Amino acid sequence: MCGIVCYVGREKAKPILMEGLKHLEYRGYDSAGLAIQNKKHIDYYRAVGKIIELERKTNDLDIPGTSGIAHTRWATHGEPTEKNAHPHRDEKDNIYVIHNGIIENFHHLKKKLEKSGVQFRSETDTEVLAHLIAQNFDGDLNEAVRKTMSQLEGTFGLAVINRKTPGEIVVARRGSPLIIGVGEGENFAASDVAAMVRYTNKVVHLNDNELALLTKDGVSISTAQAKAIQRPTETVEWQPEDAELNGFPHFMLKEIFEQPETILNATRGRLEPGEGVPKLGGIIPVWDRLKECRHMVIVACGTSYYAGHVGRYIFEKLTEVDVEVELASEFRYQKLNFPPNTFIIAMSQSGETADTLAAIREASRKGANLIGIVNVVGSSISRETEAGIYNHAGPEIGVASTKIFISQLTILTLLALLLGRHQNLSLTDGVEAIKALTALPDQVKKVLSQDNHIQAIAEKYYKYNNWLYLGRKYGYPIAMEGALKLKEVSYIHAEGYAAGEMKHGPIALINPEMPTVAIVPKDSMHEKMINNIHEILSRKGPVIAIATEGDDKIKDMVEDVIEIPETLDYLNPILSVVPCQLLAYHCARFLNRDIDQPRNLAKSVTVE
Ligand code: AGP
Ligand code: GLU
Repeated sequence: MCGIVCYVGREKAKPILMEGLKHLEYRGYDSAGLAIQNKKHIDYYRAVGKIIELERKTNDLDIPGTSGIAHTRWATHGEPTEKNAHPHRDEKDNIYVIHNGIIENFHHLKKKLEKSGVQFRSETDTEVLAHLIAQNFDGDLNEAVRKTMSQLEGTFGLAVINRKTPGEIVVARRGSPLIIGVGEGENFAASDVAAMVRYTNKVVHLNDNELALLTKDGVSISTAQAKAIQRPTETVEWQPEDAELNGFPHFMLKEIFEQPETILNATRGRLEPGEGVPKLGGIIPVWDRLKECRHMVIVACGTSYYAGHVGRYIFEKLTEVDVEVELASEFRYQKLNFPPNTFIIAMSQSGETADTLAAIREASRKGANLIGIVNVVGSSISRETEAGIYNHAGPEIGVASTKIFISQLTILTLLALLLGRHQNLSLTDGVEAIKALTALPDQVKKVLSQDNHIQAIAEKYYKYNNWLYLGRKYGYPIAMEGALKLKEVSYIHAEGYAAGEMKHGPIALINPEMPTVAIVPKDSMHEKMINNIHEILSRKGPVIAIATEGDDKIKDMVEDVIEIPETLDYLNPILSVVPCQLLAYHCARFLNRDIDQPRNLAKSVTVE
């Protein structure tokens, strides 16, 4: 996804903007640009490719301006070229605008503008913004943007500067996140906190159809209908170094190794060991309805969807609640008939995934209750659900989601445990669950300590072009998530399958050139998985087994075994996913892939 960074203050804007863009790189982009204002002069540079290309153009330049806007583009309209890179200008080079999102009615607007004699310089939808704002400007930039918003259909997070109004930046949002950073004698705006957290941890989230005028001395927020908004600042929980590599070669590896801490962050202050009952303050607003709820739908995309799949089994084990799991991109188009008091759980790391956001809006229209399990505080999904539980996992920079998956499983377990303990789950079961959750961080560390062994297995198989992942019950979603990890970072084709389906087709694929990763912990499915492994081995298919430590049966059958400590069956996924993450990481590394920013992928899919 694209990125926006803005600064207005007393310092030179260029280093701050460039630093900010670098902390948005993980979102995925194809070009970059900036515009910096010094009184009535604007310095303006753009470049195709990585930010280093923009640096090459600007590093040796002394650009004194103390306010400016910068952008990384993920092209939707117009090739990734310098001409289409942002910022875009009006014909008189007064207005400079950057934009995240899609202006759905830009064809109509462009035709109208061309009819009025406007000459376009790019193929983008964004450029219409520059011309409209210029046409609407009559001395007040904020008002010009407000007027322009009423002419737009589609989504935008945008920022504008004007040669004629030095020291002012106007930002506006509809459907694409924009966060304001409040400083002392300086103010910021960005599409992600990571771009400004080293300068301020005081932020204000813009809501849809709101705009803000930033100067070095203040921020004034208002609605598209010109209603002034007073919104208190929120304090960002994490530190600047959380968005740094801290010695790791990639954010993905750093975040895999952060997972023991991630579990602690997800459970901190939420466990009451003696009572076997978690405390989840974020759902208090809906607790009276939630504790009576007997039907839930978990809605998510990608890795968050696979976490929801594990959640379904966990709820089945611990509660009397009937839980479905739906892909947000499918759910939102279904005819939704909910039983009374249905709860939708929207799972999303970014809290900005377009399909998940659209799905909960549709569910809300049909009368469902909404709660969110979200990592980014103040994100759209967190603000459009009635209540929720934050992951508190800190920023996840690697595009491939790892620590958030484990955090989501931990939180789903806490939620199921809380509900279960108000239903038929005994004190003993509750205490046992909390004891097992408390042991998990050290158990994850134990799995991580096998990194060299897992790397050696990856080295053996990274040249194979097709992999199969198999699991049953709790292991089935891990098979799908393990396959997704391998696909998205190493570009190797992989399929995650329910092992019980082997005889219904996939067994035809087994051959010596196709490794199978078998998720085979000591649980109720163990014997059935052993049979599947036999079927594969007898057809000369290589097997990599993820098994409970001390499982001699597996060790006698399979050469490449990765052991996980023993835990409760519904907590096995938190341990069995870690070898899948490391296998994917090391294969990608052997293949020299762009691990933190895999091709074509974005960290947060805020467009459909
Ligand atoms: C997972 O590794 C991918 N990055 C992707 O599938 C991601 O999980 C999905 O886009 C959902 O993102 P969200 O959790 O921010 O909603
Ligand atoms: N739609 C705009 C363009 O293609 C913005 C894309 C983005 O969000 O980066 O330039």
